[in-house]
Amino acid sequence: MAEFKLPANSIIKDGKTWPTPTGASRVKNFKIYRYDPDSGQNPRWDTFPIDLDDCAPMVLDALLKIKNEIDPTLTFRRSCREGICGSCAMNIGGSNTLACIKAIEDIPGDITISPLPHMEVVKDLVPDLTHFYAQYASIKPWMQTSTPAPQDRERLQSPEDRKKLDGLYECILCASCSTSCPSYWWNGDRYLGPAVLLQAYRWVIDSRDEATGERLDNLEDPFKLYRCHTIMNCTNTCPKGLNPAQAIGQLKKMMVERLY
Ligand code: SF4
Ligand code: FES
Repeated sequence: MAEFKLPANSIIKDGKTWPTPTGASRVKNFKIYRYDPDSGQNPRWDTFPIDLDDCAPMVLDALLKIKNEIDPTLTFRRSCREGICGSCAMNIGGSNTLACIKAIEDIPGDITISPLPHMEVVKDLVPDLTHFYAQYASIKPWMQTSTPAPQDRERLQSPEDRKKLDGLYECILCASCSTSCPSYWWNGDRYLGPAVLLQAYRWVIDSRDEATGERLDNLEDPFKLYRCHTIMNCTNTCPKGLNPAQAIGQLKKMMVERLY
């Protein structure tokens, strides 16, 4: 029988408010989503008052300070701390972005931090990206060729053809765009979402790749590509300033052009 209400453990409760640091004059509250599926408890919002005079400038710095000095159980992903690895993507102040390149001072008032929306939560700020990566693998994100490789050098590409990859190769697969997309929220099981489609276009447009037809065939499906309704959340949220909506538009155009 269909269930018409959210499960009881989806309700986020008020959690713990930690003490304000003594002597602090510039205090900022970080309200952070906490969830441990193994605990059997509902998710909760914990509040951590942080002295900004004793904290480095980025949101990731505050999370590290909280983990190192206040609550070591706080769980989140991070690696490069300079916007390259994509692992610190989360929802900060209502927008998906990278914690390591988001300045605390850019967010007025208290800062609310939660995992990327509409994904299963592994723990606290860590979403389960298994399905996202499986979708990425489905577009075969590597160069496919049928002609023999040159013996004495790499496959060459003209400067003009190389330029076509600008705005695409910079994608770090942080999933901020896909998890901001309502179409992906509702149809993420079959719609590939903006990040994976941008990557698909990156290989379709690569002059060295020789599987363009097969790649487009693979996207010819009512859900994989055409569930994009040009809502544009993806482009608005991308922390690298990329334009997945435009890449999706180009794919749709190529689909039509090859019919004639
Ligand atoms: S397009 Fe932007 S938001 Fe989407 S995965 Fe790539 S870097 Fe992240
Ligand atoms: S830690 Fe690598 S992108 Fe933020």
